[in-house]
Parts: sequence; structure tokens; C-alpha cells
Amino acid sequence: MNDAAPNAAPQTFYLKDYKPFGYEVESVKLTFQLSPNATKVHSAIRFTPKADAEDNRFFLHGEQLSLISAKIDGTPVTARLVDGGLECDVPRTSFLWEAEVEIDPAANTALEGLYMSNGMYCTQCEAEGFRKITYYPDRPDVMSTFTVRIEGDEPVMLSNGNPTGAGEGWAEWHDPWPKPAYLFALVAGDLVNHPGSFTTKSGKEVELNIWVRPGDEGKCAFGMEALKKSMKWDEDVYGLEYDLDLFNIVAVDDFNMGAMENKGLNIFNSSCVLASPETSTDANFERIEAIIAHEYFHNWTGNRITCRDWFQLCLKEGLTVFRDAQFTADMRSEPVKRIEDVIALRARQFPEDGGPLAHPPRPEEFQEINNFYTATVYEKGAEVIGMLKRLVGDDNYYKALNLYFERHDGQACTIEDWLKVFEDATGRDLSQFKLWYSQAGTPRVKVSEEYADGTYTLTFEQSTPPPPGQPEKAPRVIPIAVGLLSPNGDEVRATEVLELTEAKQSFTFDGLASKPVPSILREFSAPVILERETTNSERAFLLAHDTDPFNRWEAGNALAKEVRVAMVLDGAAPDAAYLDALEKLVRDDEQDPAFRALVLSPPSQSDIAQTLHERGHTPDPQKIYDAAETFTQTLAQQLETSLPRLYAATTVEGPYVPDADGAGKRALNSRILSLLTRLDGGEQAARQYASADNMTQQYAALAALMKAEKGEAQSKAFFEQWQDDRLVMDKWFALQIACAAPETTAATAKELTQHPLFSMKNPNRFRAVMGALAGNHAGFHHASGAGYQLLAENLIALDSVNPQTTARMCAAFQTWKRYDSKRQAQIQTELERILATSDLSRDTHEMVSRMLS
Ligand code: ARG
Ligand code: ZN
Repeated sequence: MNDAAPNAAPQTFYLKDYKPFGYEVESVKLTFQLSPNATKVHSAIRFTPKADAEDNRFFLHGEQLSLISAKIDGTPVTARLVDGGLECDVPRTSFLWEAEVEIDPAANTALEGLYMSNGMYCTQCEAEGFRKITYYPDRPDVMSTFTVRIEGDEPVMLSNGNPTGAGEGWAEWHDPWPKPAYLFALVAGDLVNHPGSFTTKSGKEVELNIWVRPGDEGKCAFGMEALKKSMKWDEDVYGLEYDLDLFNIVAVDDFNMGAMENKGLNIFNSSCVLASPETSTDANFERIEAIIAHEYFHNWTGNRITCRDWFQLCLKEGLTVFRDAQFTADMRSEPVKRIEDVIALRARQFPEDGGPLAHPPRPEEFQEINNFYTATVYEKGAEVIGMLKRLVGDDNYYKALNLYFERHDGQACTIEDWLKVFEDATGRDLSQFKLWYSQAGTPRVKVSEEYADGTYTLTFEQSTPPPPGQPEKAPRVIPIAVGLLSPNGDEVRATEVLELTEAKQSFTFDGLASKPVPSILREFSAPVILERETTNSERAFLLAHDTDPFNRWEAGNALAKEVRVAMVLDGAAPDAAYLDALEKLVRDDEQDPAFRALVLSPPSQSDIAQTLHERGHTPDPQKIYDAAETFTQTLAQQLETSLPRLYAATTVEGPYVPDADGAGKRALNSRILSLLTRLDGGEQAARQYASADNMTQQYAALAALMKAEKGEAQSKAFFEQWQDDRLVMDKWFALQIACAAPETTAATAKELTQHPLFSMKNPNRFRAVMGALAGNHAGFHHASGAGYQLLAENLIALDSVNPQTTARMCAAFQTWKRYDSKRQAQIQTELERILATSDLSRDTHEMVSRMLS
């Protein structure tokens, strides 16, 4: 199929080249005759030429298909097979296209199109996988109703929409809502369902099911509750109701991403839906609830209103991430969710935006669209919506959203359509705001202050370092939420949103009795890097007094970073005042345990590396590691006398409930246990391991022990207990690498790739090992270069099996220019080695070339 020269640069697609398809698709009827190696797919598609088409070339996408026959209006025709699909001469009036193709799901290890996972048939079509199922105009602006007949001897055979009939060896489905092909889904296999039901606000009864492999029935109850909560929340907050009689979720073990919002038939990576107290941690529960909500919310933001083309991906993803974050904030704790999201944004999106893979939330070119399911499109896309909401206010936000659903239901839309509803609903000109969608890079905002005669002035200066291909940066609209505190800790000005629109701009506050302490960028009101000269005592003051919980945490986080940076650069001892502040906070039972746990969690070592790099230093991963160890050890010693009491006081008794309250307490308890384990030789952790009746506590104990190199027996026991549970085994694989010392990290990971339960074919398992390697900062970047080498070798091996997962994991190298020239040379060698691999996938080729350019 691919007759391009080996590793020649693949074709690039551009936003500016968009042209509508020249035909309407009136209806699609598909018949599948399932067979692992030879599934036949018959398609009957009614096309009508558009009268006003600028281009009436009849081109259907198709990849890895064997064409058996093609007919137009019942008469056999000869189609011309061309690169990436076929062409055919067709009538200028409405006609019925029929094709029969054969595909090989069992050989499909790329997990895109129709494939098999543990003997079960399933599909993943977003973004461009439908073309591996049959010939079709596989683009999101082509929408049609689908009727599907599945023939086979699988006990359960599902597709989108509502069931319309079933018998011995067949099942039929009809989806009345026109949809693009990327939302098509089919699942068939030996599955059992966990049933549920939901009555919509207009009184419609919806049947709900979570389908799993026999044996997993006991892990569905939490997901089902999350689904019902999501359905109710979307009605209450956005007025959006579900629109079919049935909603199915299926859990699949082999899946490239988290989950997929196929109409009426969501398909989930089993790690994102299966949950039980014995096998899932609090973090797993929270994530599962959020992903179920995310996919459900796509039914409106994605499915009813979809994207015109893949450049507009953030139209549905940014909005849906924003909505699922609102949901989690409502179900759990708003400040905790915000802090978690900012930690993740800084860990994943900021490095992307500051490195060779930088792209705007709406990219303007790509080679492989699967490479653009990124933190920038998703998380920064959501941040952009958060800023928009802050600028127009809540009422206007919901007014604009109502208009969006009213005006664009059933359409495939663009970012321009999206911004237009805000302009029409509010009368506001958003042309400058739109730069957020077209400019890459994280803006730096420099702040200076002045105080005289009761007037306080804040001056902001914005600039964005130029990312690849985007030299000039016009100033953006940046909402900066600010509050002012008096020196005694009272809030003298409540939060106000300042709109920074110029490159440099000042704002004044009058009538102040004394120079205030500013709390800037409350709630992290914009995804920027704030630069301000301040002191550690002012940070400590904000950590103690700020009324904005996000900024209280932020002050503590900034302090933690300063202390680490000083330790790394000057070999300083951990700052005593900071240790005292932490001690005070940990022991303050008035404070929310979740908040205390967050303040006690150190900034990541990668984050310290990034901070050093931003300040013009070359980070030394080993020194950063040593500073982290010294700091934690010193903190443990400082707290020594109170740790046993704190441990006891934060231990959650009684049956495990995965709610926010319990999770917060357990998070704090786990932090304390890890400190205690540094002093007591692992006694308490061993006791906790032995008595734990839930994974959160079992895992926390194991992690504390392994980090202290005291967990050999428990690690063995854990393996014995859980070897038949794939998801728990992923934790076991990852934890050994995460806890390894820098000099043994690569060797530990390498050994685990030899383990009988390691597999290249299961993305979760591959990620557990290679993701943990890349995530162990000092280990991955160890001076030997062994980490780089091991990852590159495994990516090369995976590429021919699963290009999508390979390409995603290549991003582990994206920060390479932060480091010293020796490490850079080592990484460059590995990247060049990957690029030189024969028959390298388009996916990996694009990622590696961008990183090398
Ligand atoms: N739309 C899915 C989600 O956000 C992601 C699917 C992406 N899959 C892919 N192969 N690129 O939930
Ligand atoms: Zn999504």
C-alpha cells in the first residue's frame, strides 16, 4: 500500500487547503461477516453529487483493504486504486455505491480500525481508522446515518444507536443521528453486562450497560454510578439530555488511548473504566469518574456538534476537557481539582509548548493527525475556554453555549463558529482573543509593583519565546485574577480580573492604608509563566494567609522550588524557615487533609529541571535527585517526633469509600507513611501492607517500602496475589522502575522487558514499563545514556507493531535541549537511530523529525 521511498518525508496536510467533499452521503449500510483473519465488509452507500461542488473528484479513503468487488447502482465497476484509497467514475445524479472488502482484524496490532483484543472484536476509528474498515470519505465533515448488520457466532454483537433486530448468528443496529465515520463502532465477543438505567429530565428511560469480559463484572458498579452522575450533571448544568434509548460502554484491554466517544457505544481502555476497592487506587477512581464523564459529555460536544476537519480537534476536546473538569470540581473539591490540573499542565503541556513539538491549540499542519492528540490540544484547549469564561462571565458563558447548541446542532464546525457564538451572545470582539488558538508557546508575564500615597500599581509585561515556525508573537488577551492582602493577612481587595491586552500595561488600586501583598493569577486564571521578584518570606506569608486556595498552594509550591533550586545550585542546606512552615501546616488539623497532602508533595524533579533551564542553568539530573533525597530525609527528621501521631491521626478507619474526603485523608496518610518509612526501617509500612484491604493503602505501603529498598518480600507477595489481574500488574511493573535509584533504573526496566508478562502488544503494559522509565527523571537521564538507549530500542521494536503508541512515547525525548551537551549528543544519536529505521511509520517519522529539526 505504501509505495513511497523508505523514510521519505510523508505528505503534509494544511488547514488552508480545506475543501468540502463534493458529495452528500445520504445513508450508509454496512454488513460485517466476522472472521478473525478474513472479515468481509459489505458497504452500501448512497451518494448525491453536490450541485455547487468546487471539486467533484470521487475519492474514497481506504487502507489495508482487499477490494473484492465494487458496484454502482447494481452494475460492477472498475475502481482505480490510488495512494491512500480509490477513485471511480460516477454518475452526476444520486447513486448507490456498493463495495465488498476483506480485512484481517487478528493481524491488526496497530489497534486502529477493526482489531481483536483477547479474542474480542472491537474498533477504534478516530481519527482516520474507518478507512481501514471500508472505502469511505473518511473525514469528519461527511455525516450520515448508519445501519449495521453483524453476522457471526459471537454471543454479543454491538454497534452504534439502537438495536433493530437480532437472531441466531446476526444482529442489526440503526443509529438515527447523522455522524462522521470516526464515531462508528462495532464490538463482538463473549461479554457480560453490568446493567443500569437513567430517566432523562423529559422522562425518557435510557438503558445503560457496561460490557466486560466474564470475571470483570465486579468492577463495573463505580463506573455505572459515574455515568449516571454525568448524565444528570449535563442536564443540570448545560441543559443537555441524552438522545438514544441505549447507552453502552465496553471495556477493552488493548487500547491506544484512554477511551472513545463512539455514538451510543463508548469503548474504553479497561484501565479507565474497571474499578474496585481491592484493585484500584483513589487516583484511579477519580480518573475513571472523569473519563466516563468526558466520553459521555462528548455526546453533545463532539458528536451532535462535531469538527469540520481535524485541525479543529480542540473544538471538541478542549471543550469536553473543560466540561469534565467542571464536573470533577462539582463532584469532589474545586481547589484540589484545579491544583491537580495545573500540576499536570505544567508537567505535560508546558514542556511541549516550550520545546520542538510546540504547536498552537489549533494546529495548521500535520502529517499524522494521531500525533496531535496532545496536552496542548486537550489541556491548553481547555485552559483557553476557562479564560474565555472568565472574560465574559458565567452568565454570558452559558448564554453563548446555549446559542452554540441551538445554532450548530448536527453540524461539523470550526473555531471561528465557536468564537462567533461568543461574539454574538456578548457583543464582545474576540479577534485578539483568537490568537490563543493560533499562537504556540507559553507567554511569560513579568510583574512589577509600586506603592505611593495609598495607590498601588501593578505593571505587567508579556512576551512569548518564539516556538518553531512562529517567529512573531503579538500580545494576547490575558485574564489575570488579582486580590490584595494587608500585611496582617486580611484581604483588602477581593479577586478582580485584570485584562492584560497590551505588551506592557499597568493597573492601579487606590485608597490602601499600607503597601499590600498581592495575590496574582488566582485560580491560575491563565496558562502563563508568571515572573515576579519576591521573597521567600512573602511566599510563606501567602502560604499562610491567601484566601485563594490555589494561590496558597502555589506559594508553597514556589517556595519548595526555590529551596530545591538553591540546594542544587549552591549546595545549600534545606531552608529552615520553609521546613518550619511545612511542619506547622502538616500538624494543623484545621486544614483540609487533601490540601496538606498537596503541599507536602514535592515538585517533580523534571519540574525543577525545567525551572533551572528557564533561569539559564543546565540542569544536572543527579544533583536534582540528590537534593530531593536530602530534602525529604531532612523533613522526615524534622517531623520525627510527630510522625507516629500524625500517621495514626490520618489513618482512615472503616470500610473503604472512594470519595474525595477519604481520598484526601489517605493521600495525606500516604505522604506521612513515606516519611515515616525513612526513619523506622519500614516497620509501619510493612504493617500497613499486611493489613490493607484496599489498593490505595496496599499500594502506598508497597511504594514506601520499595522506595526505601525494604520491599522485596512485599513486592513478591504482591506479584503472587495479583499476577492474574492485568491492571494491577501494570502497577507492579511501573512501581519497580519508578522506585529504582538512578543508576539501576534502566537495568530494572530492561529486566522487566524480559519478564514473561511483558508484552509489546498491550499498550498499557508497554507504557507501564517504558513510561515509568521515562518518568524516572534521574534514571532516564542517567549519565551512562542507558535509559535513552533502552527506550530507543524498544520504540524501534514497537514501531512495526503499533505506530501510534510508539509515536506518542517518543515525546519522552522532547525536553532534550534542556540538558548538557553530552546528554544532548546521546539523545541525538538515539533519535537519529530511530529515524534511520527502515519502514519507520509515518507517525514516528513525524515526531522524531520535529524533535530533530
Ligand atoms: N476522542 C477520544 C477522547 O478524547 C480520543 C481518541 C483518540 N484516539 C486516537 N487514536 N487518536 O476521548
Ligand atoms: Zn475527548
